[in-house]
Formats: sequence, structure tokens, C-alpha cells
Amino acid sequence: MKISITMSLNFWKYILIILSLYGLIFLLINITLWKSWKNHLVSALYKDQNGIQSSNLSETHQAFHHKRTPYCPHLAQPLSPEEELEERNLLDLIAWPKPPSGSESLYLSQTSDPVHSRFTIVNDKNWSVGDQLEVQVQLRDFKGRPKRYGGDLLLARLHSPQYRAGVAGQVLDLKNGIYYARFSLLWEGSAQVDVVMVHSSEAVAVLQRLREKRFDRVYFSSIFGQGNHFEKTICNMCLPPDQEPLCNFTDHRTGEPWYCYKPKMLSCDARNNHAMGGYTKDIITKEEALLFQSGKNIKVAIRASSTDNINVLALTKEAASRRREPVKLATSGYYYQDLWRPLGGISMRHFDKAFAITLCLNNKSVYMYGDSTMRQWFEYLHSVLPDLRQVTLNPKPVGPFMAVDSKHNILLKYRFHGPPIRITPVMTSELRYIANELDGLTGGPDTVVALSVWAHFSTFPVEVYINRLRQIRKAVVRLLDRAPGTVVVIRTPNPQALERDVSLYNSDWFSLQQDTVLRAMFEGLNVRFVDAWQMVVAHHKPHNVHPPRAIVKNMVDMMLSYICPDLTGNQSRQ
Ligand SMILES: *[C@@H]1O[C@H](CO)[C@@H](O)[C@H](O)[C@H]1NC(C)=O
Ligand SMILES: *[C@@H]1O[C@H](CO)[C@@H](O)[C@H](O)[C@H]1NC(C)=O
Ligand SMILES: *[C@@H]1O[C@H](CO)[C@@H](O)[C@H](O)[C@H]1NC(C)=O
Ligand SMILES: *[C@@H]1O[C@H](CO)[C@@H](O)[C@H](O)[C@H]1NC(C)=O
Ligand SMILES: *[C@@H]1O[C@H](CO)[C@@H](O)[C@H](O)[C@H]1NC(C)=O
Repeated sequence: MKISITMSLNFWKYILIILSLYGLIFLLINITLWKSWKNHLVSALYKDQNGIQSSNLSETHQAFHHKRTPYCPHLAQPLSPEEELEERNLLDLIAWPKPPSGSESLYLSQTSDPVHSRFTIVNDKNWSVGDQLEVQVQLRDFKGRPKRYGGDLLLARLHSPQYRAGVAGQVLDLKNGIYYARFSLLWEGSAQVDVVMVHSSEAVAVLQRLREKRFDRVYFSSIFGQGNHFEKTICNMCLPPDQEPLCNFTDHRTGEPWYCYKPKMLSCDARNNHAMGGYTKDIITKEEALLFQSGKNIKVAIRASSTDNINVLALTKEAASRRREPVKLATSGYYYQDLWRPLGGISMRHFDKAFAITLCLNNKSVYMYGDSTMRQWFEYLHSVLPDLRQVTLNPKPVGPFMAVDSKHNILLKYRFHGPPIRITPVMTSELRYIANELDGLTGGPDTVVALSVWAHFSTFPVEVYINRLRQIRKAVVRLLDRAPGTVVVIRTPNPQALERDVSLYNSDWFSLQQDTVLRAMFEGLNVRFVDAWQMVVAHHKPHNVHPPRAIVKNMVDMMLSYICPDLTGNQSRQ
């Protein structure tokens, strides 16, 4: 079995032909859809979907005119005009400023250096609760020269260790080397600003290229078997067309593509399992590798030019009368005493006692679908509820898991999402797509669905993620149509611990882009979000793809607060 990772010449010829066809079709579509697209785009852009990095309307208009290579044109399902339009809007929404041309050949010394960069608290005054704090960040290169273009990925947090309080900042890229981080001031007392450079703009440009061009950087495999004969072949969502015969495992209902090379001696039906094959190495040059150095330019703190501390006063009547309404920030909540307090009219309950959770979940079925970050929710509930019995003990991390409390009529289920999944071998029979699973649910007020889909999609072009979410969204809409009381909770992506290799396959930059797409695609539906992104950024614990238990508890409490809202409107602990 030949494993060919590099695409053949023929394949690129094919891409060229498809590209020109694509261009022609696009022109035709453009003529008919231009008007509606324009309205759509403008409204989508002004909605401040992610609030982390803002888009520049005129620049995204320009970006729109760059034609993209469609992902895997010979294998993917064609999109309807509406789907294509939505995809374009979403791609515009996540358009990221690229370093000026020529910067591919920069020396490391000309790229962003967090150690030389500084932040400054602007409009210093007497702050009070409800004000907005603005921090200006000037990025500099390794020789201390100010950067002149944007595109760096920064994260910002305001926190008070003594109150175990924290809130995520909203970062605005002025595209000239200067950034603003804005924070809502939500508690009284002294507070400290943290700004971290996750990646330089030059590094993000590398990640962007990897995402669009090197979707082979994680590969998968399957074992085919019959009697004593076994063969292992390479599988993926997209395989080069002119290598060897393929087995087509495209899902009939969702149309989600999946292919393996056909085994030499066995038929395609003999596929036993699915597993991660491995990571493709040597995907960046030696020069590019310099942009991904732990402790040097990945997740390194930027220092304050003078103070990083402010003192926030209680809101006096006088201060309230002087206040002008600040720019609305997309802050979804903050921590106080390590407890998440959501903003925006949702009242949070903290379920400290198992009986309170049992009471909330009485007579309910909770279906959890997604990656290992959703499995954490199952594991958390399983560990705290005394009357819960796990009836299917599948030791494999892939599950599926089921737990029941027959005394209180509670059912919990967890199942991984369909491929791509990077995981230990999983039986073919257990590979299920979330959309199909949702179609199998009756739903109703006693049914809860929790979803978390992101981490396994970061090595693919974002179109793949959009398409997967689209299939899931259709199923959610069908579910809510037939059973309107169903509670649907969506967990967003979160930042994680990064070093060089993790960055190339799983960077926060990929996750942040997914976060924006996810929120935009489910906006307006009767679904609820658990903002894992901000819950991890705001917390004092180090970033981890699997957030620590203290954060998971807050996430599950958030879900339970949606299921069993506190009708008194107070924050409460049970
Ligand atoms: C699409 O159509 C509009 C108006 O008909 C035109 O202004 C625009 O240049 C077209 N875009 C492309 C990429 O052809
Ligand atoms: C957006 O980008 C355009 C072109 O680069 C620039 O002229 C304009 O000033 C920018 N606007 C804002 C609000 O940054
Ligand atoms: C800040 O508060 C101090 C003490 O209450 C007061 O003297 C000072 O004038 C205030 N400054 C501003 C800019 O309001
Ligand atoms: C794979 O199967 C799907 C659905 O059965 C079909 O639409 C698609 O065209 C097939 N792919 C190839 C390359 O034949
Ligand atoms: C749960 O269902 C049982 C049987 O239908 C019912 O008697 C009980 O009141 C329900 N409990 C709650 C909290 O809904």
C-alpha cells in the first residue's frame, strides 16, 4: 500500500480546471445573488459575533474577491446557492489580516516579539464598576522596532487574585501594530491586566497556509479484516484522486465524505475500525519553525509600560450620572470567587450539592455529543451523582457511555462525533454522525442535547467545519420543530496549552476561527451557549484543551441553569 501525501501534478491540473469552472459559476451566482448577499454580509458583520478580533468592512470586501480553492472538489458534495452564499459570508466574517506580501522572507528579528512589546492603560482615571477599561498594546519586533501591520493573535484578561475574579478582554486590531483590549469592569477593588501574544502575525500566516493547503497533516487509518487476513489502509475526508482505488464511506444521510484506499485483497465492506494514523511531519520550513518557539513567541506575556494595575471603585450616584454608555462588549460573563457569573439576563445557579443536580435532572434524558471536551461533562456528572450507574462500561475514551439513575429516572448518554476523529481505534459500528443521532431523538421538554464539536476539525479547511455544523444545525432545526421544548446547549471551543507542534495542528487561532463560525451559524436558533472560550480565558488556571475540573463544574452548572432556570432571578448556590 503506497501512502502518498504529496499531491500529484495531475491533481493540480484538475484543481485548475475546477477553479476556472468555479469562477464561472461564481460569476453567474454573483449576478443573481449580489443584492441579497450584500445585505446579508453587512448585517452579519455588524453583529459583533465573536467580539475578539473585529473585522474591517472594506478589507473583507476586498478579501471576498480572492477566489478560494474549494476543498477537495473531486470528492465533496456540491453546495446549493444558499449554502455557498452562507459559506462566503462566514469566510468573510473570519477574514484575518495577512502580513504584507514579501513578509514570507522576513528574518525572525523582523517579526513580533512579545518581550519588546508593551501595553499601556489608557485614559487613566478613577474607575468605577460598570466602566470600561481600555488598554493599548504596541507590538514590536525582536529589535524593538514598532510593527506596522496587524494580524497577531492576542488574548487579554483582567483579574483580581484576591477575589478569584477574572474577565476576558475584547481585542481590536487596528492593523498597524497597535491593538486595543477592552474590559468591562464588573467588580470592585484592585485588578490587574494580563496580555498574552499567542502567535505573531507571521506565525498566523503560516497556520493559515497549513489550514488551506496541508489538510493531510493529520491522517487516519482503518483496518479491514476477514478471517485471518487483515489489511490497514490510509483514510481521510479527502484523498488524492488518481492514486489507487478508493472505498467510499460517505454517509448517505448527511453526505459527509469519508474515504479509505481500497485494501488489495479485501472488499470495502470488510472495514472493521477507524483510528488516527498519525501526524505528517516536516510541514514547515526551518525559517518558519523559528516563529513557533515555546517561551519565545508562543503564548508569551506582554508587559505593561508602566502599571498593569487599576483600582475599581464602587459605582456612586455621582459617577453613574457622569457615565456615558460605553461601546457594548461581547462579554458573556466573568468569575467572582471562582464562580462564573453570566451576563445578559441569564441567572446562574451553582449546583454544589449532588441532590440539587438530581432534582434538576429528575425525569430527564441528557444526550451529550461531541469530542472529549463534551466527554468531560459526562465524566463530571458521573463523578458527582451518587445514584448514577454507568451501565455500559466502555473503557475506550471514544465511548459511547450511558449512565442511569433509575430512582430519579435520569438518563445520561455520551457519544463521540463522526469522523474526522483523532483517536484510538473505534469500531466502525460506533462511528455515528451527530446529525443522524439527533434525527433519532424524540425530544421534548425532558430532553437535553449538549454539543461540542471543534478540536478535531482544526487540521481541515474551515469549509469542512462549516459543512459539518450545517448538517448538525439542520438536524437541530428538525428536532426543535418536532419537539419545541427540547433544550439544546452548545459548548464553544476554548484556548489550550500550546507549544510548537500543538500549534501547527491545534492552535488557538484555528479554535478562535471555529468559535466565530459556530456562534454565527447557530445565532437566532433556540439554542443556548456555554462560552467555554471566555470561561477559559477569564480563569486563572493555565489553558488546557481539557479545562480543569473547576472550569468544567462552572460549564455544567451553566448547562443545568439553562435546564432548570432560577425563576427568582438571583444568583444562588445549592
Ligand atoms: C458581482 O456583481 C456586482 C454587481 O453586479 C459587481 O459590482 C461585482 O464586481 C461582481 N463581483 C465579482 C467578483 O465579479
Ligand atoms: C479599513 O481598511 C481600509 C483599507 O485598508 C482602510 O482604508 C480603513 O481606514 C480601515 N478602516 C478601519 C475602521 O480600520
Ligand atoms: C480621583 O479620586 C481622588 C480621591 O477621591 C480625587 O482626589 C481625584 O480628584 C479623583 N480624580 C479624578 C480624575 O476624578
Ligand atoms: C461517494 O458516495 C456518495 C454518496 O453515496 C456519492 O455522492 C459520491 O459521489 C461518491 N464519491 C465518489 C468519488 O464516487
Ligand atoms: C417524574 O415523573 C413521575 C412519573 O411520571 C412523576 O410522578 C413525577 O412528578 C416527575 N417528577 C418531576 C420532578 O417531574
